Amino acid sequence: MKKKIKYIYKQIKLVLLKLFYSNRTLAKLYYFFFDTSFNREMFSVIQGKRSYYRMSLGQNQNKYQLVRNIHKIEKGISMKNRRSTFALDFIEETVDTYLNLRNNLNIDSQISWAKEVLNNYFDITDSNNPIIGKMKKKFVETADNFEGQNIPYKSSERVESTISYDDFLILSKRRRSVRWYQQKEVNLDLINKAIELSLQAPSACNRQPFKYYIIKDEKILRRLSKLPMGTTGYADNIPLLIAVVGDLSAYFDERDRHVIYIDSSLSAMSFILALETLGLSSCIINWPDIEIKEKKIQSILKLDNNQRVTMLISVGYADQEGFIPFSCKRDVKDAITVI
Ligand SMILES: Cc1cc2nc3c(=O)[nH]c(=O)nc-3n(C[C@H](O)[C@H](O)[C@H](O)COP(=O)(O)O)c2cc1C
Repeated sequence: MKKKIKYIYKQIKLVLLKLFYSNRTLAKLYYFFFDTSFNREMFSVIQGKRSYYRMSLGQNQNKYQLVRNIHKIEKGISMKNRRSTFALDFIEETVDTYLNLRNNLNIDSQISWAKEVLNNYFDITDSNNPIIGKMKKKFVETADNFEGQNIPYKSSERVESTISYDDFLILSKRRRSVRWYQQKEVNLDLINKAIELSLQAPSACNRQPFKYYIIKDEKILRRLSKLPMGTTGYADNIPLLIAVVGDLSAYFDERDRHVIYIDSSLSAMSFILALETLGLSSCIINWPDIEIKEKKIQSILKLDNNQRVTMLISVGYADQEGFIPFSCKRDVKDAITVI
């Protein structure tokens, strides 16, 4: 009986899909009338965009905008055939945002970096240009001491790596999704260390638009670990849970709406490899975009509408007797297309 109902449900679904799949307008109608799955994403994107513009206008206090602009300036400084004038269309906005943030936020590493890159920019650009000259005057009047360390540097000056391909392969093979853990408290210093490493990951325009929510409170942990769909059978065994949360207020345009997933995933990969080097194991847990679950996690983690959970990660010391699926990896030839 159950099988028959399932079959009929699939048939109806297929008929509907056949009616609506063939062009974009029909697809839009389908998602308007029959399936509201994209509603929350659209809502979060527009909330994020509003937040971005609100931070940029008025008080000019948009740190994401500052980071992106400084990133663009660093690229300009790093050009092989560097021009004596560049960034003219956004240098004013950048200096104003830097000054506002410097005055209103605690000075952190990114604000210091902005200061040093701006200083470097004004050193190497032509201050006879009226825009550059005006902004240089404004910047220099308010600037204090400079370390001068956090500016573009030559590739040859990078730190040497002593990690060989073979070492990295061993670490990558050792990391496997571990779902059975010792019931032993995880030292948060280790988590912070792993996060420090994970923050070295690349991100679009260096915006790093995500945060790691560390859930160690037993009550919240027990509620949260059962919320995703993929923890059946081992939810109660998880000693520590991490929610990686993307921030859509980092973007002024819909074209970047997927970047929170890309950036947080790149960072999470480094995070779980770092955990492995620290003796900890982990498992990425899919976060499903299902309205009722989204509402619950938003309320538990007190998230703004522009914040979206991109994944959960369970962390703990592996139970040495616990089994790990073999999870066969693909052959290289199956994973590549050479064009
Ligand atoms: C995006 C993503 C979502 C995942 N979701 C779950 C999940 O919900 N539950 C689970 O037990 N494992 C989950 N995993 C772990 C995968 O099952 C696992 O990575 C895969 O089988 C390969 O095994 P390995 O990680 O040991 O190499 C997820 C992994 C990724 C990357």
